[in-house]
Amino acid sequence: MKKTNLVLGTVAAAVCMASGAAYADKLTYYCSAQEDWCQLMARSFEEATGIDVNMTRKSSGETFAQVRAEASNPKGDIWWGGTGDPHLQAAEEGLTEVYVSPMRDQLHPWAIAQAESAGNRTIGIYSGALGYGYNTELVAANNLPEPACWEDLLKPAYKGHVQMANPNSSGTAYTTLASMVQIFGEDDGFDFMKGLHVNINQYTKSGSAPIKAAGRGENTIGIVFMHDAVKQAVAGFPIKVVAPCEGTGYEIGSMSIIAGARNMDEAKRFYDWALSAEAQNLALQVNAFQVPSNMGAETSPSAPDMSMIKLIDYDFAKYGSSDERKRLLKKWDDEVSTLPQ
Ligand code: G6P
Repeated sequence: MKKTNLVLGTVAAAVCMASGAAYADKLTYYCSAQEDWCQLMARSFEEATGIDVNMTRKSSGETFAQVRAEASNPKGDIWWGGTGDPHLQAAEEGLTEVYVSPMRDQLHPWAIAQAESAGNRTIGIYSGALGYGYNTELVAANNLPEPACWEDLLKPAYKGHVQMANPNSSGTAYTTLASMVQIFGEDDGFDFMKGLHVNINQYTKSGSAPIKAAGRGENTIGIVFMHDAVKQAVAGFPIKVVAPCEGTGYEIGSMSIIAGARNMDEAKRFYDWALSAEAQNLALQVNAFQVPSNMGAETSPSAPDMSMIKLIDYDFAKYGSSDERKRLLKKWDDEVSTLPQ
């Protein structure tokens, strides 16, 4: 019996080798954007290339931690999406691979600048401004004022009504922390985070969760990227999107090849494909309203108009550096998250 199985197995392997099926190309894809967009990218790449994709969605800070934990035995090949800061930190720590794509000249200068600042170990794939959204029905039902500025979120009336993610796991929340430090200065920025903490009902793991909860009526105000709030409004939920009056930070969503990737050729193929206008236009199918990095890709008319938003000159080199990101997160852990609410 055993012998027969062995023979059959050998024959099957030989047949598969001849057809190439047993050694199908594959790609392990870590994704830090919205789940539906991650899935669509995985399926579309499979269809375009025949390469089998194994996709996992985790938030930006979580994926960074995983890539670092796996560094001596890398399991992932490509990391697509999520805020740029942890991608920059990964680049600085040598966790990601140098690659200059032939697609690069199709990209906006901000996407290329991201690559150049990281020795070509990462690149910009989209951008989007930080802000917040609120459920207009809950604001009215609770007789709350309509917020328009960051400072408004500190009002005692909003106690228990504000939600944001944890900046350790979420790139959105780290962008929030780094933006407050840049807008108000370090001391006042941390005072802001402490004041906000009193009004926070929950720190979620994923960056967009607070506005999804607001859409469902389970939370009033969610601090998120504005495009994530627009997505809820476009889906028909009573969400108003706010570009805070003081000005705001933004992200350069990024992509990196993992150093020592087992499927390096497939990772490069995904990388080149993901920079094409055609692949970036897939965003429109899942209402991902970021600004695409390919100059020929379409931006939805529903996307927040970046030229109308007061953006700060976010210092990516500083806030994406390993020392600064570690320092700010530790300070937030020690001085903000431990405070009573
Ligand atoms: C959402 C946004 C993306 C952002 C990502 C970061 O998916 O649409 O633009 O890059 O959040 O996710 P995280 O869970 O790390 O905050």
